[in-house]
Amino acid sequence: MTTALATATPATIASSTQVLAQRLGTLRPQVAIVLGSGWGAVADQVQDAIDVPYADLPAFPRLGVAGHAGLLRAGRIGGRDVLVLAGRKHAYETGEADGMKGVIRTLAAFGVTLLIQTNAAGSADPVMRPGELMLISDHLNLVQRSPLFGDSGNDRFVDMNNAYDAELRRQARAAADAQGLVLHEGVYAWFIGPHFETPAEIRMVQRLGAQAVGMSTVPETILARHAGLKVLALSLFTNMAAGIDDQPLSHAHTLAIAKAGEAHAVKLMQVLLASLQP
Ligand code: HPA
Repeated sequence: MTTALATATPATIASSTQVLAQRLGTLRPQVAIVLGSGWGAVADQVQDAIDVPYADLPAFPRLGVAGHAGLLRAGRIGGRDVLVLAGRKHAYETGEADGMKGVIRTLAAFGVTLLIQTNAAGSADPVMRPGELMLISDHLNLVQRSPLFGDSGNDRFVDMNNAYDAELRRQARAAADAQGLVLHEGVYAWFIGPHFETPAEIRMVQRLGAQAVGMSTVPETILARHAGLKVLALSLFTNMAAGIDDQPLSHAHTLAIAKAGEAHAVKLMQVLLASLQP
């Protein structure tokens, strides 16, 4: 059994939910936000913050990547109660897609109904540029792994139609438009990484109809839909994908451009939280 599987059991999920209830008092946010690279400053926007380290939540993963701290922060952004999750376990760390299983199931047990996911991504579409944002309309699970491997029961056969809620996307586009924020929309193709794609792989996903490529998000969307949560997901482009321009790809470059796009990302998140009606 892998560490991730061992972490997310009904018992650890129940005790994580209890810890949250003890630490947060009467606060019961319905919206949770998973922060990816470039989105870390969203955590600084939280008012009346209560912090709970992942280490205090037995169903939560232990993290190891630079730039991804493991912290749950509860409070308010844009007048709305939120749980902000700084740090995700990626499938490229272990080869397993279920690293966030305990997180998503704890959120569901705690009463969360909407998961807003964020990530850094490469753009496979020449009109979508580094520093710009994209609403994910759908995904390609190219990795063909599921965080539900090993689960039993009929509800593991999750309907992935409308995985990225169409009505919430409509609201998000309207909110971004009203503020004059550029928000592209497109399909996110999941590669397991941690290596970047080859130019041939990027030509492949272009033909398959994807605009963004990245190494996260898809497993959490599957887990969230399985748990009955709605999902909204946003990519911050940190680079043109392999072969599109002459830029060499590196994690340092991803983090540097993510930092530059951060203000834009924070603004969009504030606008969304002030206006979405999940
Ligand atoms: N590919 C995969 N993941 C990424 C990229 C990319 O080009 N940029 C940021 N995350």
